[in-house]
Amino acid sequence: MRLLKTWWIIFKSAGSAMKSGRQGDLIFRYFILKTLSTLGFFEFLQQPRTYGEILAEFGFSESEYTQEVFNTLIHDSKNVITQNSGFYALNPDVPLPSLESILARTDPRLRFAAQIAEPLSVLIIDRLQEKDIGVTEVFEREDYRVVNMFNDVLDTRIYSAVREACFAYLTSEERKWMRGKQLIEIGCGSGRETAEIWLHLEGETAITAVDPVPGMLELAQKNFPEFLTEIDPAHPVVTKNNKPVFKEGSATRLPFDDDSFDVSYWAFMLHWTADPKKAISEVVRVVRPGGLIFGSQILKPYVNPYLNLVIRSSRNSYGFFWREDYVKWFADEGIEIDIATPAGIIRATNNA
Ligand SMILES: C[S@@+](CC[C@H](N)C(=O)[O-])C[C@H]1O[C@@H](n2cnc3c(N)ncnc32)[C@H](O)[C@@H]1O
Repeated sequence: MRLLKTWWIIFKSAGSAMKSGRQGDLIFRYFILKTLSTLGFFEFLQQPRTYGEILAEFGFSESEYTQEVFNTLIHDSKNVITQNSGFYALNPDVPLPSLESILARTDPRLRFAAQIAEPLSVLIIDRLQEKDIGVTEVFEREDYRVVNMFNDVLDTRIYSAVREACFAYLTSEERKWMRGKQLIEIGCGSGRETAEIWLHLEGETAITAVDPVPGMLELAQKNFPEFLTEIDPAHPVVTKNNKPVFKEGSATRLPFDDDSFDVSYWAFMLHWTADPKKAISEVVRVVRPGGLIFGSQILKPYVNPYLNLVIRSSRNSYGFFWREDYVKWFADEGIEIDIATPAGIIRATNNA
């Protein structure tokens, strides 16, 4: 029953995983191609060129990331460039897409992706040129203010549905047990998630919300009371005991002692970290034995390769990974996780 309900919440908000993955893919693909096009990349490939010539022309470094960008382009089912006998060239049979045509074919629930795809796609050039851009710089860029864009996006139905599904996947005993406990929310983002978690728990669980990006934390602190009132004008009273504490910190190095929390929650976060396996060992360290670990992490193959390129444009982001890795990284800590739906909803008891 829990599983069915969890599936239903995800399906209602995003439609089928394959369809939403493919449509999201086309949006991110469009903006990556646009970024490369603005650079003169496709014009240059009107003549066949070697890999070395392309790297020299655009100042791209010889890296695993650069290779992945090229591989993604040439192995796409609609490949805008071809590779033959060591030469890359524009594919005359595949025109560059237009945003209007893609959005016209995209489920309205997924169109929000265009808002973040545009600023994030520009960053792939920095990574191709090996400029040292980390997560904080990605989010706090002066020219695009990714923080502000995430402020809108994290407020959309899909994100709220995933949070709801995370709670729906817990047993009713677990939901009750969390009352009066200490919860760490890792990668809290704009404060929308903090407000929703707080409301799911009716203000009866002490939340410590952590994020490494100062601009994100600032937003979260400012937004939290506004979101509470917007979502539920009759929400329980916020007191000094149930008011969330916001703290700067990374999932891979949590600034807390061992066994500081009873519960942990994360969503849409691990792929941004440099080392998701380390983040897992950190969460196991700070959640006390017998505590609860829950949340979500979208896993391969339900994320698309173009989105992955965009996430990995930050030099210290690992990108998406496979379900098998996720299960194994927890198993290495002695924990068996229970995963549901393509949104990677998880729950586990910390019996490490
Ligand atoms: C897509 S947002 C999701 C925010 C929130 N979890 C939600 O779903 O509303 C990703 C968040 O992860 C944060 N983040 C990035 N790297 C992180 C890290 N190493 N540790 C913790 N959070 C991180 C970002 O700053 C950002 O706030």
